Amino acid sequence: MSPEINRIDQLRKELHRHNYNYYVKNAPEISDRDFDMLMKELEELEMRHPEHFDPNSPTRRVGSDLSDGFSQAAHIYPMLSLANTYSIDEVDAWVKRVDESLMGQETCIVGEMKFDGSGISLIYEHGRLVRAVTRGDGEKGDIVTENIRTIRSIPLELQGSGWPDFFEIRGEIVLPWAEFDRLNAEREALGEPLFANPRNAASGTLKLLNPSEVAHRGLDAYLYYLLGEDLPFDNHYDNMMAARSWGFKVSEAMTQLKTIEDVDRYINHWDTARKELPVATDGLVFKVNSLRQQLNLGFTAKSPRWAVAYKFAAERALTRLRFVSFDVGRMGIITPVANLEPVLLSGTVVKRASLHNDDIVRTLDIHEGDMLYVEKGGEIIPKITGVDTAARLPEARPVEFVSHCPACGTPLVRVEGEAAWVCPNKEGCVPQIVGRIEHFVGRRMMNIDGIGEETAAALFAHGYVKNIADLYDLEAGQLMNIEGFAAKSARRVIDGIGASKAVPFERVVFALSIPYVGETTAKKVARAAKSIERLMDMSVAELEAIEDVGPRIARTINDFFADGQNRDIVARLKAAGVQMAVAEDTGAAPSSDTLAGKSFVISGVFALHSRDEYKALIERNGGKNVGSISKKTDYILAGENMGPAKLEKAKALGIPIIDENTFLAMIGAQ
Ligand code: IVH
Repeated sequence: MSPEINRIDQLRKELHRHNYNYYVKNAPEISDRDFDMLMKELEELEMRHPEHFDPNSPTRRVGSDLSDGFSQAAHIYPMLSLANTYSIDEVDAWVKRVDESLMGQETCIVGEMKFDGSGISLIYEHGRLVRAVTRGDGEKGDIVTENIRTIRSIPLELQGSGWPDFFEIRGEIVLPWAEFDRLNAEREALGEPLFANPRNAASGTLKLLNPSEVAHRGLDAYLYYLLGEDLPFDNHYDNMMAARSWGFKVSEAMTQLKTIEDVDRYINHWDTARKELPVATDGLVFKVNSLRQQLNLGFTAKSPRWAVAYKFAAERALTRLRFVSFDVGRMGIITPVANLEPVLLSGTVVKRASLHNDDIVRTLDIHEGDMLYVEKGGEIIPKITGVDTAARLPEARPVEFVSHCPACGTPLVRVEGEAAWVCPNKEGCVPQIVGRIEHFVGRRMMNIDGIGEETAAALFAHGYVKNIADLYDLEAGQLMNIEGFAAKSARRVIDGIGASKAVPFERVVFALSIPYVGETTAKKVARAAKSIERLMDMSVAELEAIEDVGPRIARTINDFFADGQNRDIVARLKAAGVQMAVAEDTGAAPSSDTLAGKSFVISGVFALHSRDEYKALIERNGGKNVGSISKKTDYILAGENMGPAKLEKAKALGIPIIDENTFLAMIGAQ
């Protein structure tokens, strides 16, 4: 074999292992940058050796664009559902039934989470993933192998030993809460319909025809059922532990329970503890551990007798609709909001719930004064899931969507093919202007603390900040005229505005509130254009040539920069020192979230980079620069000649002082 082919095999093995360490074990051994470099090397070698193609190569995780429709495959064993129970008593009754059926044999029950995603069946042959099929109708499902390959926690090649030559493993494809929130925020910014919950988002994503789009969605997978003729053990638990050793993600919550008391304790524990999990769960599943006993117990037509689901109580309340109000977003999108008689729901009082858009109001057929079901399935924002039509007052009229902007009175327009109504008065509608200021200062944009909705509205009302560029002329004295600000808090905001000048260009583009340009698109557009001057000059055709930019986005970007007011704002931002070009070393130091939530004070003189470069590195890796040391500071990045007063204060507050080498190691740049 040629040395290059050898290297390909070696790189594939190594990258499979790093994927596993990162996505299954949460314990990466190498930096993201080193990982990217190995991946790049493999991509180049594979390009030179197409004859050594492997559909399971780690490079295939990014998804190819070649997929049209799905073929279907029959399941080898039908994919059944589980009988549901809703109380500890019902679960206990099931355990007793099992014991009786097994006529007093010793039993062990395995307790596990019921993941709320989309069921999947994975087929492995000789240690390699060969096919992935959705649940479908239980008998047959869609073949979604290409999409599944993009999920990094699913092993394409197994590790360890002892797997059968042919087996099936089933589990749930889930979209973690963090990814769900990110996806919906992006869709909201783009005026696209929101996913109601992570389950819909996960199953919708699995059915996307473009695997490279799937690769961006952050899906994850938990496996919970091994099937095959020659499994290594005669019980479910040991088989799942073996599967874990082959590289599958098996939940840490999976436990063997010996007695009915253990089962009850497990339920009581997870009833609340599940709220801390990173993914949505809608209950627990209990399974008889012994495969021989499972065989004895058998199946009903719909579900196994050897397993049962316990569903968490849906956190739902019934309350009266007082009225529907209409919020105006920064892009002018009008969102209907149900204002409710206050009602207690899983520990918080709910007064408002989003109705998302006109289509949802119509689908639910909400009438004035209706009794509405409000649910909080773990999502942060409560949602209206239904109407008690029996309680409807006879004279109640259906809720009408407004025809004019509730803030500025402009007639609303509906963009063809979309559910949203929009106020077109971009420059004169107060909530839109204030919303753009609020967006600009947000954590993922310019990361300026201390300016929330109220402050942004007050700054506008006082005439201090009429657009985002005005922020850079703001003075501490002006802030102190606003209720709630004192000298110190005003100073902090001004320092934050100063530090935001180091925020990289990619985030500046996102912060501008260009319609339809979300975080990912902003990054791509910024990197392709490299500077604001170039971006402003790009034609629709040139914009369309950028990855992920379709005709609609290209047109809106072009329109945005054709507007004299926007050009003026950009010029003022640039004059204020805001980054208007990609940093030279972007390629060498990729951005990350490594420093998310951490604040840094930079002090002294450095040998390896300038202070501004360090500021940019902190921002680019999700951290925050602050001007002065306080209890909330996480690190002091200290060079030579750090001021003695600062040193004293840092020591007194016990804040770690790190040098530039330590810092660079933290972000994996060394
Ligand atoms: S076992 C024959 N275990 O719930 C038993 N299912 O209502 C097969 N699910 O279709 C299922 N978490 O998609 C099992 N720990 C778990 C589960 C689980 C979620 C889903 C699965 C199944 C549905 C049954």
